[in-house]
Amino acid sequence: MKLYTFPDVTARMPLLAEFDDAPTDKEVDALVAQLRPRLRNVIGVTIGKGGQGKTTLAANVAYMLAEEQAARAANGKSAKPILYIELDANGNGRREFGLQEGEFDDDGARLLKAITFDGEFTVVRDVKPYLDSAVSGSRLGDLSSRISRISMAHGSGAYLLLALLLAQISHFYRWIILDFSPGDKETQRSGMAAATHHVAPVMDSDNGTLDGLTTLAQLLRRTRKVLNPEAEIAAIAFLGFNKREEKQTAQLEIVRTKIEDQLIAANLDPGLMLDGFVRKAEGLATLCRNQGRPAREMAMAAAGELKDHATGELVPRPRDERGRLVEKAPAIKLASDYGDLVGDLIRRVRARNNVLREKDGQGAVA
Ligand SMILES: Nc1ncnc2c1ncn2[C@@H]1O[C@H](COP(=O)(O)OP(=O)(O)O)[C@@H](O)[C@H]1O
Ligand SMILES: [Mg+2]
Repeated sequence: MKLYTFPDVTARMPLLAEFDDAPTDKEVDALVAQLRPRLRNVIGVTIGKGGQGKTTLAANVAYMLAEEQAARAANGKSAKPILYIELDANGNGRREFGLQEGEFDDDGARLLKAITFDGEFTVVRDVKPYLDSAVSGSRLGDLSSRISRISMAHGSGAYLLLALLLAQISHFYRWIILDFSPGDKETQRSGMAAATHHVAPVMDSDNGTLDGLTTLAQLLRRTRKVLNPEAEIAAIAFLGFNKREEKQTAQLEIVRTKIEDQLIAANLDPGLMLDGFVRKAEGLATLCRNQGRPAREMAMAAAGELKDHATGELVPRPRDERGRLVEKAPAIKLASDYGDLVGDLIRRVRARNNVLREKDGQGAVA
């Protein structure tokens, strides 16, 4: 694990400054059209309501995708790392990979600077094999107000700062996972402008969650008009619902029915809801976060099969907060839920990218 600064990232503010006062729609459109093809590997995880499992889902998606790339590399196939970025002042994303309070934890200062002060873009390289991560934290509390201030001079160009940054480094990554909070309008707009595909996690069955989905659909509709014509919901993923005999229970069935009605009313496809879902496993999820191990890594560790990627030595079997060995079977089940979910999600994203590429006139790529 080490800090890595991308060497050739150019400043973004001069680009916005070219638009002297506020840019016209045409100027923004031309810039957006240039950016779009470079941002098709950016997947946003967001919803219009907090605590729905954005960070848990985003971190696990990033990890599963990284593991796949590591396996490709081990088999002599082409592979690229994954980048995880959390835009949330709560900084929970740091915990998912064990970065919290470690030597690289700067509370999000570097990330804030990179997005809004034309700072260098620095990531923590190899937080896990084939996985890099930016560091979030309380300093990102200023992100929205900074973007808002920039927008006074540069209009909607301010919301493209993140997209302009990511477009310059996206080719180094197979996928970039962007986890952003719906709390701050400016942050959310920036995330929606950058990510081509959006995944909404759903963890609660109350109507607040349904409202969160409606809000998301509305925000995306607005985003498509100016900032990102390609922004769409790629999938809705359910987390933390009970499984009985490996099947969903009435609780999730009811939620699905409600969301189906809502999607139809919003002219969206009910097929956006992924069939697979992540089972309820609160204790294990908490342990994963506290120990900085995504579910799949926890499962490998609990099975006594995880090797330290620096030393190649087997990692001791993890213990819970009471000192008991983490049980292997539940950890493997949770990890396999993520495996199925991520497989389905990426199939959809790739299919959509093929359609977008055909529109570019470049033809589909498998
Ligand atoms: N499979 C699961 N079952 C039950 N609870 C879970 C599961 N996965 C995550 N959680 C819990 O859900 C809570 C909210 O998740 P989080 O990812 O922080 O949401 P957000 O990023 O949307 O605020 C966390 O306390 C987490 O431990
Ligand atoms: Mg979060």
